[in-house]
Amino acid sequence: MPPYSLRWGIIATGSISSEFARDLLVDPATRGVSDISHNISAVGSRSVASAQKFINSLSSASPSEGWKWGVENGKLEGIRACGSYKEVYDDPNVDVIYVSTPPSAHHQNVRDALLAGKHVLCEKPFTFDLEELDELIAIAKDKNLFLMEAVWTRFHPLAAEVAKVINSGKLGKPQRFSADFSMDWKPDNEPASHRMLDPALGGGSLLDMGPYPSVWAMLLVQQNPHNRDQDPQVLFSHQTLYERTQIDLNSRWLVQWKDLCQGLLLSDLSAFGQREATAVLQCEEGDLLSHYPPYKAETFSIIPRPDRFAGSITQKTTHHHPIAQGNNGLSYEADEVARCLRDGKIESEKMPWAESRIVQGWFDVVRKQGPTPLANVKGTAGQ
Ligand SMILES: NC(=O)c1ccc[n+]([C@@H]2O[C@H](COP(=O)([O-])OP(=O)(O)OC[C@H]3O[C@@H](n4cnc5c(N)ncnc54)[C@H](OP(=O)(O)O)[C@@H]3O)[C@@H](O)[C@H]2O)c1
Repeated sequence: MPPYSLRWGIIATGSISSEFARDLLVDPATRGVSDISHNISAVGSRSVASAQKFINSLSSASPSEGWKWGVENGKLEGIRACGSYKEVYDDPNVDVIYVSTPPSAHHQNVRDALLAGKHVLCEKPFTFDLEELDELIAIAKDKNLFLMEAVWTRFHPLAAEVAKVINSGKLGKPQRFSADFSMDWKPDNEPASHRMLDPALGGGSLLDMGPYPSVWAMLLVQQNPHNRDQDPQVLFSHQTLYERTQIDLNSRWLVQWKDLCQGLLLSDLSAFGQREATAVLQCEEGDLLSHYPPYKAETFSIIPRPDRFAGSITQKTTHHHPIAQGNNGLSYEADEVARCLRDGKIESEKMPWAESRIVQGWFDVVRKQGPTPLANVKGTAGQ
């Protein structure tokens, strides 16, 4: 049977769009995939020159670059450069839109794409607030269209292996959890207009980096067979204000899974995270540690508890599950979108709306309790 072939439209020509587009063009066989094929039919930008530049850069891949395969195998055939996002939504040769604009624009872009009848994969954070997300889910349901948050980490080889450990039960009942995405990004060296520093674009550590400790909260605790709490709540939070641009320099929030455990989640633009313990699940029999970076972890360890409190795990083991060579790691989520569409699904079981809603709800609580001007801002739902 020939592979299921999906035609992508890409919205915005920023940095992650470029990585994503390249991954669409990598030979799926490099990651052991034979049932899916990706094509890029249109690229939309606020400027047609930028869309054309983006396409030119894709087309001119050098022989050593992984995505050269797609260029040589017709995966860009007929691609259009569009000077507006709307032209891409309206393109009959596009099946699905990848949205990678700044967070403050996601709701409007996704809504426009859905209302034009297109399926959507939208970058994290899904939206600015939960009300926006609920509106998008309602439209997707109403129009029977696929919608997913692009949390690429969930589809990486390591995530599947971690799930096997969690589901095996060998770690026992969780007792405590922590997860972190922190980087020494040196914000003072960046212009105030950078999207990470501009509150009007949804800047700050919470919305940009918060999705990653949240990935691990979902994979290690929410989906843990011991968990019964479908609505884990934030007990308290703290944000540090970055005076120069009024975004949060860091955020910390404590989540309670009823009758199970608590978890501390951290994001930070001014300090490094720990190399071998970016996410930590401590359980009755032993601990699981996922290594840095939390967005693209390739190694995890299982380690015994201290001697005095020893559980059944007695030896440290380290497990390495790399991203396939030549891929940036974004191809896996694209394959999931294609498989869902092929199978007539409007929601991914691996990245369900319910889990995006939990995380978006946490962000709302932390943001509203924080000192930044975003605390009092409402999203664009209903507008
Ligand atoms: N999955 C990941 O690993 C990952 C990594 C980085 C970022 N992200 C997420 O992806 C999204 C985009 O991030 P990025 O790093 O690619 O950002 P970026 O490089 O700043 O690109 C954003 C693009 O959005 C478009 N845009 C539309 N309205 C804009 C406005 N008012 N101001 C600035 N740009 C505007 C621009 O494209 P045009 O000029 O072509 O319209 C711009 O190039 C964010 O939600 C971010 O959190 C995900």
